Amino acid sequence: MHLDNWGLKAKKLGYRSRAVFKLEEIIDKTKALRGCKNVLDIGSTPGGWSQLVKHKLNQVNIHALDILDMEPIDGVNFHKIRVEDIDSVHEIFELKGLFNLVISDLAPNLTGISVIDEANIYELNDITLDVAVEYLSKSKGVFIIKTFQNNMLKKLRTKMKSLFDEVQTFKPAASKKQSAEIYLYGAFKE
Ligand SMILES: C[S@@+](CC[C@H](N)C(=O)[O-])C[C@H]1O[C@@H](n2cnc3c(N)ncnc32)[C@H](O)[C@@H]1O
Repeated sequence: MHLDNWGLKAKKLGYRSRAVFKLEEIIDKTKALRGCKNVLDIGSTPGGWSQLVKHKLNQVNIHALDILDMEPIDGVNFHKIRVEDIDSVHEIFELKGLFNLVISDLAPNLTGISVIDEANIYELNDITLDVAVEYLSKSKGVFIIKTFQNNMLKKLRTKMKSLFDEVQTFKPAASKKQSAEIYLYGAFKE
């Protein structure tokens, strides 16, 4: 497999994905980890984002979930479930309203038919946004979600603007220019 510079850097530092550098740029710019106690990583496998958060803030309590298995990471609580079923996990449910950071790198399986893929991406993003709003602290809560530049992006951003005190859009340096992926940030502020 061909590894670009970001891939090589991730390998050298022991990270499981090059996606860590995309998240890192956003959390560094927004200081999203400041005062963070509880983190929810949605669509966590293979585990790069959880590794990064744990590395940057060792004391933080991380719950990670995915439909696929994930190799264990010290100090990360992994749950093999769909985001749609999050309320069934007692340890996460009891932290409702207490998460300071919810990160989502979710991506549905693509069909190649753009109208179907856009609808599937929007549906999954919308479910994840509702989960984030429900589980985040309303006094200090940040949501970071990967999505894609398509016809539904404006709708998602508009919904986020109606829910959060602040919304920003990021295209991190580690995200390939030709890739449609883009990151939205939403924050509840005191
Ligand atoms: C791009 S990967 C995440 C990479 C991860 N952030 C990292 O840095 O290692 C996206 C993940 O979303 C998961 N996923 C897709 N649909 C899901 C769903 N409905 N519920 C939970 N996880 C889902 C996939 O299984 C996949 O592992």
